[in-house]
Amino acid sequence: MKKGVAIVTGGTRGIGLEITRLLVEEGYDVAAVYHGNDEAAKDCEQQTNARAFKFDVADFDACQTGVATIEEEMGAVTALVNNAGITRDGVLHKMTAESWHAVIETNLTSCFNMCRAVIGGMRERGFGRIVNISSINGQKGQFGQTNYSAAKAGMLGFTKALALESAAKGVTVNAICPGYIATDMTTAMNQDVLDSIIRQIPVARMGTPQEIAQIVAFLMSEKAGFINGSTITANGGQFMAA
Ligand code: CAA
Repeated sequence: MKKGVAIVTGGTRGIGLEITRLLVEEGYDVAAVYHGNDEAAKDCEQQTNARAFKFDVADFDACQTGVATIEEEMGAVTALVNNAGITRDGVLHKMTAESWHAVIETNLTSCFNMCRAVIGGMRERGFGRIVNISSINGQKGQFGQTNYSAAKAGMLGFTKALALESAAKGVTVNAICPGYIATDMTTAMNQDVLDSIIRQIPVARMGTPQEIAQIVAFLMSEKAGFINGSTITANGGQFMAA
């Protein structure tokens, strides 16, 4: 059964690629938004039957134009997954303003840019599903990630406020906080630092992108209609918030 159009930002690699793949399997027409890697975007299209669209989620005007193009070519957007994210790790006393702004704009301002582009249509049609991919490091903070932790914590407040505004119009908004997941982002870390983090994970391994994609698919489903403004945590027990 066709379920409408889902946009997955950062949808051609890492966690996003697995979200794209699973939502296609679940019957969505998926628009996978990416910014840099054309080769990965081509692979994603071939592997998943999703369509890839190239624009910068940190750029407000690019998002309005990009979403308009997706709607023209694919139809009305019923679901949005704000998954695009970058790291520019470094301790604050050495962090450049460029590293701060790049992470805040790509990870947090992008949620405003993309939600602003789809929310009007979802409200008019009386249905929508928005899932924001935050992080364990937005819940607990992380040494060397003042920029990333701030952006990811910001996404949690954003999620709750938009959930309150949207519920009466049939639109649910939720967040997922993955822990350390095996992707290019964690592979790029210093191996000793990564090993020391894995030692803090009770299940003694990193998570897989598929384990996060399954949660997205559930939140998108009709069964999840009573879940709104929530944060679903999946980190192998690394951090247990009260
Ligand atoms: N807590 C307390 N002190 C720490 C520490 C920690 N977690 N980590 C390092 N330190 C101390 C070091 O022991 C060192 O102390 P001394 O100078 O007394 O020896 C000092 O801080 C400097 O440490 P580094 O040598 O590591 O500093 P650096 O500038 O070379 O590196 C860093 C800084 C790049 C941020 C490095 O610490 C790092 O990679 N940290 C991990 C960041 C991280 O977890 N990133 C996650 C990326 S994946 C992701 O973000 C996905 C997701 O959502 C989970």
